[in-house]
Amino acid sequence: MSLNIADLSSATKSALAAIASAKDLNQLKVVKTEHLGDKSDLSKASQSLGKLAAEEKAEFGKIVGAAKSEVVAAFDSRLRVLETERDERVLVEERVDITLPSSKQPKGGLHPLTILTNEISDLFIGLGYRVAEGPELEAEWLNFDALNIPADHPARTMQDTFFIEPLDSKLVLRTHTSPVQIRTMLENKPPIYVICPGRTYRADELDATHTPVFSQVEGLVIDRGITMADLKGTLDYFAQSIFGPDVKTRLRPSFFPFTEPSAEVDFFFNGRWIEWGGCGMVNPKVLEVCGIDTKEFSGFAFGMGLERTLMVRHGITDMHDIVEGDIRFTRSFGTGGR
Ligand code: FA5
Ligand code: MG
Repeated sequence: MSLNIADLSSATKSALAAIASAKDLNQLKVVKTEHLGDKSDLSKASQSLGKLAAEEKAEFGKIVGAAKSEVVAAFDSRLRVLETERDERVLVEERVDITLPSSKQPKGGLHPLTILTNEISDLFIGLGYRVAEGPELEAEWLNFDALNIPADHPARTMQDTFFIEPLDSKLVLRTHTSPVQIRTMLENKPPIYVICPGRTYRADELDATHTPVFSQVEGLVIDRGITMADLKGTLDYFAQSIFGPDVKTRLRPSFFPFTEPSAEVDFFFNGRWIEWGGCGMVNPKVLEVCGIDTKEFSGFAFGMGLERTLMVRHGITDMHDIVEGDIRFTRSFGTGGR
């Protein structure tokens, strides 16, 4: 068998033409298999050399070798051209303009006060309580009179309360969550077990421990045979769930017109007693206003400040941090996004 020179030269020509017309690296890869692969005419020509006699082998070997080198060289140079083209295209197509504003939107998050409110609600729902709500713009009668706070009580003066104009509208921004007690008792028959978290308002200056807009959580229980011992047990459970299992509470005699007896709730935390809120047995006068039979039912109520709760639990020393909405503060609670 001998090699057909004409066939070899036409195989070489068509290989060179195919290489030259390959438009991209994928096409070039196909061309390589077809014209330089094991089954290509050029490879077959190389393989057939083995079957030739010695002198023919030397002669044709040179011709086949030269043809192959020419094709390989053409392939290599086309490969470099196409690679360069691809690199340039990728640089343009995948260019990142680092001066553009980021399209990444920070993830929204709940404010720590909202998280605490949800936590307290869940806690009491677990005890069988219901969550009750009332309006922030409240009738003066519900915020004060029905709670046995008479017209000449200091809490009703202009310094503490935001009155709504015209003054004969008899509307105020509620100064505490206690009007929700009245709303609940007027609308529901006992037994009543409710928790009422919400925003409250007082004409206080914003300082390290006060804010004019703050939050309270009210608790109200009306049932048969409710005593101060039930109140104390509930407060202990509440405090331990929020501040830790070793926390103790104490009741200090105090005065609220709507509870009798009344007490301040303190809890022992980090070596000292801290005032948390007010509480007491619901004053029979208040029960009567709401049409509840005081011979059959008694109850307790409590009201805590949520900002103060948050401050103590998280070692926050300044109320401004809770009020001002700085994302660096909320972020430390794992909220407010990046
Ligand atoms: C009351 O508001 C009563 N309604 C609580 C109550 C409910 C007593 C049920 C009995 C029965 P007092 O005014 O003390 O009580 O407020 C309760 C808590 O609200 C305070 O202990 C404090 O934690 C919080 N608080 C009051 N004023 C502010 C303020 N300006 N900024 C932040 N927290 C406040
Ligand atoms: Mg107080």
